[in-house]
Amino acid sequence: MKLLLLLLCLGLTLVCGHEEEASFERGNLDVDKLNGDWFSIVMASDKREKIEENGSMRVFVQHIDVLENSLGFKFHIKENGVCTEFSLVAYKMENDGEYFVEYDGENTFTILKTDYNNYVMFHLVSVKNGETFQLMELYGRTKDLSSDTKVKFAKLCKAHGITRDNIIDLTKTDRCLQARG
Ligand SMILES: *[C@@H]1O[C@H](CO)[C@@H](O)[C@H](O)[C@H]1NC(C)=O
Repeated sequence: MKLLLLLLCLGLTLVCGHEEEASFERGNLDVDKLNGDWFSIVMASDKREKIEENGSMRVFVQHIDVLENSLGFKFHIKENGVCTEFSLVAYKMENDGEYFVEYDGENTFTILKTDYNNYVMFHLVSVKNGETFQLMELYGRTKDLSSDTKVKFAKLCKAHGITRDNIIDLTKTDRCLQARG
């Protein structure tokens, strides 16, 4: 009987735990809910120099504006030790959750996973002069995220062929937080 109860509890925990994780997985993206402030938490790329210090893709998000057919991003980038603000507009493509943005090449990205209130994960493919690389990003509503979410993100990176060495936790670096309004 005790064992039965234990199993029942375990079962319920699994069910409840699962419900908490309910999140977008392609096909039911409510993009409006991505509007608002975000922080760059973790970044990964199969071309590591792009996300290393002074790399063009090492940009720190502050805000996403969800517009009719686009997403407006407000970022900071650190150049010569100075944090500079800039904005980009990413245009909605045919597929749900897929966008195009011109920035140091032609970039197509998809929203891989989000729970809207805590995190969002992106996968981007960048093409410039015939060369291609991948970039993956984890944004949080807060300055840091649980290690659970970071592990989940690392698994997604691995699934896209990006190794652990090429994943950078930005929370331990200067993310231009002081430059946010
Ligand atoms: C990045 O740029 C700054 C300023 O030019 C320089 O001091 C620093 O060494 C650079 N970092 C790397 C990793 O190249």
